[in-house]
Amino acid sequence: MEQINPDVLISEDDISLRINALAKAINEDFSGEELVVICVLKGAFMFCSDLIKKIELPVRLEFIQLSSYGDGMTSTGNVKIEMDVSTTLKDKNVLIVEDIVDTGLTITTLLKMLEIRDPKQVKLASLLFKPSRNKHKVPIDYLGFEIEDKFVIGYGLDYAGRYRELPYIGVLNAGN
Ligand code: IMP
Repeated sequence: MEQINPDVLISEDDISLRINALAKAINEDFSGEELVVICVLKGAFMFCSDLIKKIELPVRLEFIQLSSYGDGMTSTGNVKIEMDVSTTLKDKNVLIVEDIVDTGLTITTLLKMLEIRDPKQVKLASLLFKPSRNKHKVPIDYLGFEIEDKFVIGYGLDYAGRYRELPYIGVLNAGN
C-alpha cells in the first residue's frame, strides 16, 4: 500500500474547536427554529457530520451533489445538480454546508438554484475559503478558516478521489 504523508495545514483539534464556535453561532441565530441542513457532497460530508452533532435545533438533513470539478485541480466551469435534495425548501430555514469556497462559482450557482425554491432564508457555512482565488462575491455566514491559495486535501476534501478520510486538512508535499 502506497504511503501518504501530507503536511498538516489545519489540525483535527483546531477544526473541532472552530466547529464548536460555528455551531454556537448557528444555535443562537436560529434559536427556536427548525433547520434544513443541506450537505454538499462529497467534500462537506465530514464537516457537516461534525457540525450537526453540535447543533441543538430540530434538523432535517439533506444531501445535494453538484458537478463542477473534474478529477483534477481546476473547475470545468459548468455546475450541474447530479443529486437533488428530497424535500421542499419552501418557507424553510436552509443552511448549506460546503467544504470550500474557491472561485465561488459552485456556491453562487447553487444559491441561485435554491433561491427560486422560495425558502424562508438561506445561510451558508463553509469550512474553508480561499480569498485570493475568489471571483464571485459569496456571502459566507459561518466560515471555518481562510486559507492561502494551496490545493488542500483531507477532512472530506479530495484530490482525484483520494484523501477524503484524513482527519485533518493537509497539503500534498513534494514527496507525495
Ligand atoms: P469553486 O466553484 O471554484 O468555488 O470550487 C468549489 C469546489 O471545488 C469545492 O466544493 C471543492 O469540491 C473543489 N475545490 C476547490 N478547491 C479545492 C481544494 O483546494 N481542494 C479540494 N477541492 C477543492
